[in-house]
Amino acid sequence: MSTENISTVYGREEFKRVDVGAVMREGHPDISDGDQLIVELVAKRRQAAGRPLTVIDVGSGSGVLSELIAQRLPDCRVIANEIAPNPARQARERLAPHPRAEVFTESFTEWKEPLDVIISWGSHHHLPHSHLQHVRDLLTEGGVLILGDEFCPEYCTDENAERLRNAEVIELGGGYLLASAEEIEAYREHGTVPEWSRDLEDRRRRTLWNWYKFVIDYAIERGYWQVAIAEMQITKDDMVTSFEEEHKLSPLIVEHELAVHGFEQAAKHVIGERPAELQSFFVYEFVPAAGSADADADR
Ligand SMILES: C[S@@+](CC[C@H](N)C(=O)[O-])C[C@H]1O[C@@H](n2cnc3c(N)ncnc32)[C@H](O)[C@@H]1O
Repeated sequence: MSTENISTVYGREEFKRVDVGAVMREGHPDISDGDQLIVELVAKRRQAAGRPLTVIDVGSGSGVLSELIAQRLPDCRVIANEIAPNPARQARERLAPHPRAEVFTESFTEWKEPLDVIISWGSHHHLPHSHLQHVRDLLTEGGVLILGDEFCPEYCTDENAERLRNAEVIELGGGYLLASAEEIEAYREHGTVPEWSRDLEDRRRRTLWNWYKFVIDYAIERGYWQVAIAEMQITKDDMVTSFEEEHKLSPLIVEHELAVHGFEQAAKHVIGERPAELQSFFVYEFVPAAGSADADADR
């Protein structure tokens, strides 16, 4: 993962003067509904804690969600964390009127202070998978990871699901899912990708294509050409199996990834009501699983 992250649309020159976060709220399905839900989840946590919380919005983009939280919970410290220069500048402008809000422009793994709420909204599929250990290290007692994302609608077969249930480790090798220590070793040593994993990648691409067609049509029908053009570029990025910075996985795979990194799923919220092949947005609340502090360190 490059720290400049200039290769995705968020850092590209043609989007320099566009507030991508703001236009996505209008021309892309489900994002603003997700904002509302996440603000409610944080507000409930604030009420239950009985004290102001420290909240980070990892990969905040231009800070739209951070601002909604700062407005709703003015006594909470809200950190918008964004590494790409354009959206970070936009976030700084947007958050300027909010005294308890700030922008942190280094990679999330450089943040060292404890956090009550860690939000990753649309960012999980852009972040290096190692960031989950950092999340666990920073969460306070009773803290939560709110992970909301645009997933690839579910594409795992029952057989894939069974394989995941039995996997003690999962890892992506060149974008292919590997689900055992032997598969990981074979990939690292010889670049070997198992047949089941190639089939799964084919399913991922086909499912994604169907989803992106829906998103692009949605934008064009409403006249949001910038969203449509951005999504066409994102589609291409995501279809390239080895492009790590844009790689949407299915909800089941991400749930399993969190489990193997020592997180317990406290809640799962679905956004939008569509058939499964167009169901992309989910918001999870994850907490560290009991006795899991050394889950990563042990491996
Ligand atoms: C899809 S955007 C997220 C949109 C944003 N959350 C919103 O609500 O509009 C993902 C963002 O993650 C940022 N990002 C990628 N790697 C990061 C890292 N290591 N630390 C912080 N931000 C990162 C990217 O620059 C990009 O702006």
